[in-house]
Amino acid sequence: MKSVHFKRCKPYDTSCHLKAIQSWHDEFESSIKSLISYLEVLNKRSKEARTECRKNYSKMIELAQAKTRFIHEVSHELKVPLAAVYNILNVILGGYLKGDAKKQIELLSRARLRLKETVSLLNDLLALSRLEEGTAKLEKETLNIKTILISVVKEMEKYAKKKKIQFSWQFASHLPFVFGNPELIRRVFENIIDNAVKYTNSGGTVSLKAFREDNFLYFWVKDTGIGIKEDEIPKLFDVFFRGNQARQRGKKEGMGLGLSLVKRIIDAHKGVVSVKSKFGQGTTVTVKFPEYKKGES
Ligand SMILES: Nc1ncnc2c1ncn2[C@@H]1O[C@H](COP(=O)(O)OP(=O)(O)OP(=O)(O)O)[C@@H](O)[C@H]1O
Ligand SMILES: [Mg+2]
Repeated sequence: MKSVHFKRCKPYDTSCHLKAIQSWHDEFESSIKSLISYLEVLNKRSKEARTECRKNYSKMIELAQAKTRFIHEVSHELKVPLAAVYNILNVILGGYLKGDAKKQIELLSRARLRLKETVSLLNDLLALSRLEEGTAKLEKETLNIKTILISVVKEMEKYAKKKKIQFSWQFASHLPFVFGNPELIRRVFENIIDNAVKYTNSGGTVSLKAFREDNFLYFWVKDTGIGIKEDEIPKLFDVFFRGNQARQRGKKEGMGLGLSLVKRIIDAHKGVVSVKSKFGQGTTVTVKFPEYKKGES
């Protein structure tokens, strides 16, 4: 409707006045409607902001709890071996084993081993935190993956043989080159194969395969070991996570750092890692890395 203003009406023209009132009412109504819809948008946005805030807050709490848990676990992992070394030194320096050189050497060797394990734990933690912060200087180069795989496999084969596990591998004749850090890429293969052999009992099998597909290098490790429970799979890449079955096998078998390191290394190389497992039947871990492109640096 065309708007009519009072000013334009003659003093006794009631119909003009009524039209003016009507148009004023319509304008008012439409302003109120747009105000209401604006308020509705505002209300919706504030609700979204509140939900987002609540989400961020619980994420912050979760992160703070994870940090506390992490500090607790690291302190524990460091305290136990250091306390053992301290006790050994006290026994020797206190003269309790005077004249028993053999026993002294035995204890000192044990202390050296605990210190070696502690240094390796610290190195892993350092590598983890650097990779997580993105501060690790990766010093990448063009890698011949087959050479790395063969040298890792030769090492792991000895371990599998010792455990009486059937160990086999099949690598395609042409594997793509990958642009990466040789030490870190090696650790990925070592950790995954080590897990497969470690969590497979005597008589079981571990088989490896590497091939090229869709411009990626694929590597998978399949074992007939203890397997992983479905609810544990999403936690496998958490620092210090060990499955129930693995924990029952004792601390000697690991600390739950391998896969968390693997995941961060693979992320830093734009790769992907995935785990499929059937509890009590076996596990398959698949890794893929983008193949080296000419000019990549
Ligand atoms: N092939 C596998 N078969 C069964 N369980 C596995 C396998 N690989 C990993 N897991 C489970 O995932 C957990 C985490 O693996 P991860 O490699 O991070 O730790 P770890 O092997 O226990 O210790 P670390 O690697 O520090 O020596 C293991 O403790 C185990 O429960
Ligand atoms: Mg491991």
